[in-house]
Amino acid sequence: MNKCKFKEKNETFTLDNAKDTSYLYFPITNGFKLKSSVNSQLNGDLKLDQNQFAMVPVSQEDLQNNLFGRHFWMNINGFGLYNASGVSAVQKVRQDDDVSVEAGFLYHKTTRTNDELRLSIELTTFSPYGHDNVELTKVTIQNSSEKPLTFTPTVAIPLYSRSADNLRDHRHVTALLNRAKVVQNGIINQPSLSFDERGHQVNHTRYGVFATTDTQEAAKAYYPKLQEFVGEGGSLDWPKSLLESPDTTYQVGDDMDGFEVNGGIGFAETTLAPQETKSYVMSIVVSEDEPIDEMANQYTVDMFDQKFDEMRAYWSEKMSSLSIQTGDSQFDQYVKWVSLQPILRRIFGCSFLPHHDYGRGGRGWRDLWQDCLALLLTEPEDVEYLLYNNYLGVKIDGTNATIIGSEPGEFVADRNNIPRVWMDHGAWPWNTTKLYLERSGNYDFLFRTQGYFKDKHVHFTRTEDETYDESQGTLQKDKDGNVYEGTILEHILLQNLVQYYNVGEHNNMRLEGADWNDGLDMAKDKGESVTFTAFYAMNLMQISEVLTHLKEQGLSSIEVLEEMRVLLTNDISFDDIEGKHETLNKYFNLITSTVSGKKATIKLDELISTLKNMSEAIRDHLRNKEWLKVNDNTAFYNGYYDNKGNKLEGVINDHVRMTLTGQVFPLMSDIATSEQTKDIIASSKELLYDQKVGGYRLNNNYNEVKLDMGRLFGFAFGHKENGAMFSHMAMMFANALYQQGETKEATSILEEIYEHCMDFDTSKIYPGIPEYIDPDGRGMYHYLTGSASWFILNVVNEMFGVKGHYGKLHLKPSLLKHQFNADGKASISTLYRERKVTITYTNVKQLSHDDYQIKSVLFNNEEVPFEHVDNGVIIDPSHLNDDYTDIEVILDEV
Ligand code: G1P
Repeated sequence: MNKCKFKEKNETFTLDNAKDTSYLYFPITNGFKLKSSVNSQLNGDLKLDQNQFAMVPVSQEDLQNNLFGRHFWMNINGFGLYNASGVSAVQKVRQDDDVSVEAGFLYHKTTRTNDELRLSIELTTFSPYGHDNVELTKVTIQNSSEKPLTFTPTVAIPLYSRSADNLRDHRHVTALLNRAKVVQNGIINQPSLSFDERGHQVNHTRYGVFATTDTQEAAKAYYPKLQEFVGEGGSLDWPKSLLESPDTTYQVGDDMDGFEVNGGIGFAETTLAPQETKSYVMSIVVSEDEPIDEMANQYTVDMFDQKFDEMRAYWSEKMSSLSIQTGDSQFDQYVKWVSLQPILRRIFGCSFLPHHDYGRGGRGWRDLWQDCLALLLTEPEDVEYLLYNNYLGVKIDGTNATIIGSEPGEFVADRNNIPRVWMDHGAWPWNTTKLYLERSGNYDFLFRTQGYFKDKHVHFTRTEDETYDESQGTLQKDKDGNVYEGTILEHILLQNLVQYYNVGEHNNMRLEGADWNDGLDMAKDKGESVTFTAFYAMNLMQISEVLTHLKEQGLSSIEVLEEMRVLLTNDISFDDIEGKHETLNKYFNLITSTVSGKKATIKLDELISTLKNMSEAIRDHLRNKEWLKVNDNTAFYNGYYDNKGNKLEGVINDHVRMTLTGQVFPLMSDIATSEQTKDIIASSKELLYDQKVGGYRLNNNYNEVKLDMGRLFGFAFGHKENGAMFSHMAMMFANALYQQGETKEATSILEEIYEHCMDFDTSKIYPGIPEYIDPDGRGMYHYLTGSASWFILNVVNEMFGVKGHYGKLHLKPSLLKHQFNADGKASISTLYRERKVTITYTNVKQLSHDDYQIKSVLFNNEEVPFEHVDNGVIIDPSHLNDDYTDIEVILDEV
């Protein structure tokens, strides 16, 4: 049995028999641009972005079958060719290497031993933290036998050096651009041009492979030409040039142009005495401006350890912003690995790991906001800046830019002719901003002014602004040509108000191009997203609550764009669908190209009641029209309408159809009554729950390729958006259940996913949460998933109940009895308002969740006053120390 297990306390994990599991990969990054992946065969790839891949791009099947990885060949006297990475024709047949892995923040180490050869090899891969785009692998070879071991080592890493697009598009022609040079202990390739979607441009990027030894030996042989290295009739797992006496004539200073490049560097034959070790470092370097060999030369074998320690120190400090101690130390370490994932997504976006082969870099709008949820908890210092800049992507019609650049606030005009609106996009910014406001208490943020994004697509992309051309830039202007700015609150209001009017024939918000579920993309005409209608209703209510708070602080009115008055009219009744459309069109017509730039003053009282009324009307409507009672045991919310205008859920062709998404937002928004909540839980258990995949599926099997709903129904059932256990929605389900006080149900969702993922034989992933679990139980699309943010949010905000209440610390734990350790303690170290705190809940009587409440709170052993609110307590943050506060919370009988 393979087992992936944590080493005691230090957050590294180990895996034995690693070669018996396929599709594993581990992310490596320098914290900035370099992004690579590596597995126990040193396969994977390395890139800075879509157009700068140093290694051949790798997707899931390539992890086992691609030969363009990192190789360290040893031509062993008395044996022949042996690859320290394991990728050799002979080793594949012999299968007599023993392979284990250890990984930590943020390195991957493979240990390969061979009993017959009495050889033990450690291969440690990492990237030094910082702006150098360098990945290092130290290969340490130990002769474990009683006899001397003689071998000739050769590093071979093919240098792809171009855009991922060229994998199928001009793969050979782009090789003609290659200009490789042999330098001391390295091969550098600087293609003359780059061919990609930007056109044919002079290329300035240099790609290099370097190799060095612990005795600083000069390389003896160079193999820059891939064809020659492989040899006629050979292959990268059996390179003919190494088979007999290596023979190469390349010298330092030689050029090799117009062929595929190999980072091939050979050293002189070496002999290891019994038990002796020898180390080599091979590096892959990408430089956009610095002299590449100078950069690479710093990374000697001696420097490797120093850089490794520095990198470890950096990540260890970074990861210290969140840790928990419960009754299950494996769970605690698992959470730590999940908390790495939002950071990885900030760096990798939704692309660049082997499963994420659709991505071209960057992130989607929704991901931009959701990733901030966890960053708010773990990297709060930059979040206000990020949030503020993200709002620049909002358009004056309430939609948003969909092409997002790599820098905060960088949004790009969509030039392609398939403009699309995801109707959920307007809902997420408030959700994230609310969390920020609750914790920070910085309500002034709502009144900072920010611009709007502008491109030619207007009226929810239904038409184009004829007066717009790209030379005008991407900032919304007023009629005098000045850049128009409105408050963040105005942006938020706009995003939520337009949706209120944008309804379909059943008076739910139109699905448009899709909602959260990207796969629901074929119901643009008549599709409706009932579930996101509930989400927007929740937002409207929460915004009105925040405005009520501001009113209590003395605010009496706000200013918004004059034209927005149209959206704040009270004249349209909720059921008047036509009236809603007319209102929306009236607004759209006012803002098609420019805006007036004038501001209207809106009385807060009126605004609060308008928003409340809107929210309540939606709430009543959903309860009356979308609750489906299938039979005495089965009842749940309909989540969608298809493109024929039919309900997606309920009994269809004698078969009950249900989605999880349909339930999550009515629950989260408190639209579901407590009785309905019970029904939803029971129905979800009956129709969606499957222990084999670690929890609740996204939908049950519709047995139909529903062309009137979306591409997801083309996926086989149980895969990805068609009925997999999709972690992101499962996490939001858990969150909604926590909100509803269904603590046991919520906790078990988190725990089941954790248990499934840590059951390595089934999940076959390194620790963490994957995007989904496939029908065989395997974790898919590991690391880069929004579910990690929601997992962390659930742990911090709900399980440990470390929340904000208008800037005050709100503690409301949902810890269950079994989550306390034997001494009745459970603690969390986290950041609160950018200050470090450790909060220890003490439940010496081991009371169950329903039976305890907070009795006293001590900050650094001193009791502090608190107020009971909403089953928790509120404490003034002025009691917090600037650097660190140790908080003890005593729980006792209610
Ligand atoms: C992915 C996308 C997310 C989308 C979801 C469902 O989820 O990133 O934006 O809403 O699929 O289509 P993730 O990989 O973040 O779990």
